[in-house]
Amino acid sequence: MADNKTKTSLFDFFPLSVFLVCLCLAPVPASAQGRKLSFGVNGQFKILQVADMHYANGGTTRCQNVLPSQMAHCSDLNTTAFMSRVIAAEKPDLIVFTGDNIFGSNVKDAVKSMNAAFAPAIAAKIPWVAVLGNHDQESTLSRQELMKHIVKLPNTLSKVNPPEAAHYIDGFGNNNLQIHGAVESSLHNKSVLNLYFLDSGDYSSITSLSKKYDWIKTSQQFWFDQTSKRLQKEYNKEPNPQQGTAPGLAYFHIPFPEFWSFDSKNASKGVRQEETGSATTNSGFFTTLVDRGDVKSVFVGHDHLNDFCGELKGLNLCYGGGFGYHAYGKAGWERRARVVVADLNKKGTGSWGDVKSIRTWKRLDDQHLSVIDEQVLWTSSPK
Ligand SMILES: *[C@@H]1O[C@H](CO)[C@@H](O)[C@H](O)[C@H]1NC(C)=O
Ligand SMILES: *[C@@H]1O[C@H](CO)[C@@H](O)[C@H](O)[C@H]1NC(C)=O
Ligand SMILES: *[C@@H]1O[C@H](CO)[C@@H](O)[C@H](O)[C@H]1NC(C)=O
Repeated sequence: MADNKTKTSLFDFFPLSVFLVCLCLAPVPASAQGRKLSFGVNGQFKILQVADMHYANGGTTRCQNVLPSQMAHCSDLNTTAFMSRVIAAEKPDLIVFTGDNIFGSNVKDAVKSMNAAFAPAIAAKIPWVAVLGNHDQESTLSRQELMKHIVKLPNTLSKVNPPEAAHYIDGFGNNNLQIHGAVESSLHNKSVLNLYFLDSGDYSSITSLSKKYDWIKTSQQFWFDQTSKRLQKEYNKEPNPQQGTAPGLAYFHIPFPEFWSFDSKNASKGVRQEETGSATTNSGFFTTLVDRGDVKSVFVGHDHLNDFCGELKGLNLCYGGGFGYHAYGKAGWERRARVVVADLNKKGTGSWGDVKSIRTWKRLDDQHLSVIDEQVLWTSSPK
């Protein structure tokens, strides 16, 4: 599978791969250059997920599905204000935008809307990554052009695609990040938490499935599998060899069909208030993840009224819950964001070791930024 794919793709995409190589060699902004993400001296790494901002043109873009009393004074600027507040409250180490960052069909200028949508993250000088949803490319820029713009913005760790896979991988914005052990610990040179970002596409290009949602392709799953195996080798090797795999987390926009496995009753926390908008075919990414075993939880957006996590075959499937005010929502049901924290084990010597647990909760855009649905997603010892 992989070999054939690589051979044909090398020729098909030759001009593209040359271009991408050039892009990689071009100077990167100083802010993102050489940035190594690692756990803090408190032994924690915190990620804020922002799902479905649906940003359009700013102050002139009205909100959807807010209470009638709120309608007159509500615009995209409320999305911006929510982000600034939740960043100030949580002080995350990384912000992940899981797509539908802009709502393309209402956007006049994709560059302006993108810049405005990400502005609070940039202003806070916090590293951030964005993947695309199914609506981002519906205005003036294609998916490739959007990612090429995003990678030039300050403090982003997004990539147009991983350089080693750029010649064969489907989509734009596929990427992985390594989170190193705590500063001044023996694991500071090892990735102890691996993050994967995937482009789940927009609509299928297969004629009989047109207007149906797209999916994570074989080429992307192959890249994930290769990357995960390479990271395990590095985790297991001298110096300070570690056992097994470092835990991983995966972020993308469109849920895979296994999200259908839960309703509000048997999800571990959170609610289902609408159907899962997955592709109508199953491309097998869930199985690929379970088979590889390092990823402990996936985080998606897309369905704004679902915000649950549910565990299936040892993998947690989590929705972020809708964040943006120009996105459809439910009046009186607050816009929300998901926070994930990984905590390190403290060793007998008092220094920080490998990852002990992964926890999550949500923040609501109410007066007190209420914290709800706190839960443990994974622990390194049996629960
Ligand atoms: C939107 O922001 C305005 C201005 O700060 C505020 O008055 C209004 O209550 C906000 N609306 C919502 C739904 O949060
Ligand atoms: C990490 O790598 C740097 C550069 O190679 C080295 O100087 C340092 O001693 C290493 N630290 C640990 C904890 O292995
Ligand atoms: C959750 O409940 C639904 C409806 O009863 C059922 O179809 C589904 O298999 C259950 N899922 C899990 C993961 O137990």
